[in-house]
Amino acid sequence: MPFLSDTLARVKPSATIAVTNMAAELKAAGKDVIGLGAGEPDFDTPQNIKDAAKAAIDGGKTKYTAVDGIPELKKAICAKFERENGLSYQPNQVTVGTGGKQILYNALMATLNPGDEVIIPAPYWVSYPDMVLLANGTPVPVAAGIESNFKLTPEALEAAITPKTKWFIFNSPSNPTGAGYTRDELKALTDVLMRHPHVWIMSDDMYEHLVFDDFEFTTPAQIEPGLYDRTLTCNGVSKAYAMTGWRIGYAAGPVALIKAMATIQSQSTSNPSSISQYAALEALNGPQDFLGPFREAFQRRRNLVVEMLNAAPGITCPKPEGAFYVYPDISGCIGKTSAAGTLIENDEIFAKALLQETGVAVVFGAAFGLSPNFRVSYATSDAALTEACTRIQTFCQGLK
Ligand SMILES: Cc1ncc(COP(=O)(O)O)c(C=O)c1O
Repeated sequence: MPFLSDTLARVKPSATIAVTNMAAELKAAGKDVIGLGAGEPDFDTPQNIKDAAKAAIDGGKTKYTAVDGIPELKKAICAKFERENGLSYQPNQVTVGTGGKQILYNALMATLNPGDEVIIPAPYWVSYPDMVLLANGTPVPVAAGIESNFKLTPEALEAAITPKTKWFIFNSPSNPTGAGYTRDELKALTDVLMRHPHVWIMSDDMYEHLVFDDFEFTTPAQIEPGLYDRTLTCNGVSKAYAMTGWRIGYAAGPVALIKAMATIQSQSTSNPSSISQYAALEALNGPQDFLGPFREAFQRRRNLVVEMLNAAPGITCPKPEGAFYVYPDISGCIGKTSAAGTLIENDEIFAKALLQETGVAVVFGAAFGLSPNFRVSYATSDAALTEACTRIQTFCQGLK
């Protein structure tokens, strides 16, 4: 009898975490490494949020809570959806989990049966397909390439839907491309979904607040109220409030689904950290004015990175609408040989050679389901980004 489960054989560890670890090891060994792999803001959690957590500890809010969130936080989440998205939910339509990741995982675990298909635009966040596989479903990646600015077209969505499709996972602005769908682009997709009433929509709005220029964020249930009864609108405090380590994510949707998700959570992790829930309460209810400077810093860095990467021979880097990632195409580098003699056969070899020869850590595109590309997370200082992009330029200039 094998010790490890068959389920485990279907999934792989997160490539982004692997790159972060590899960069950390090289750094510990004394190498001059610039990590552009980790998907988290370099800002500190705002002081009022930290103070709320300290007050929760001092006030004895250190016991088990309701499995899927304290009532105050659920109320604050309802208010957030109303205020920012024009969506009306009651607290029994809201669930709180240990990060956005657990929310998505709970929803898939609660709904997928063997053979159920989940449409995932590619490139995708690394965890979507593996979470679907863990839940015994079938991921259906659908290409959304550079020719459509990394956005899924309505035609491609329509063609991917089958009688077995259970979910469509939508993520705007996107990890790994930063692409954000305009109102019209999203409406074109929701029009398709209206024609297929058996398909549910999982909208992962994690990067809602990180949008640039005059881009307007929208979410499917807001654009098409006809989808409200089969949409799970997911969000969290990790990215916008620089709270990745606090582990709070949340979602709102139909009561039966929310209840089923709570059942999964009650038999796995129970409630998310009580202290983090009080911190998230302050994040949602407290002043939002730090979001402006966060956004400005990310926009400045996006502009810097896009400009410098486009100046590297063989690289084409579209300018995304949001998040803190860019996803340059490296078709022009494939088949060439690096200064140190590595034949760049694919984006994984490119990323490895870049790390070994220049100390710049990026995540290769194959991990996100669309090649040849790599992902840069520009959530680091302007100085580090300038240095990293200069090294990438030198690396590409050395390709023969
Ligand atoms: C698109 C997307 N969704 C969800 C998450 C999960 O966020 P959390 O850290 O809250 O689990 C991430 C984190 O990288 C993400 O990029």
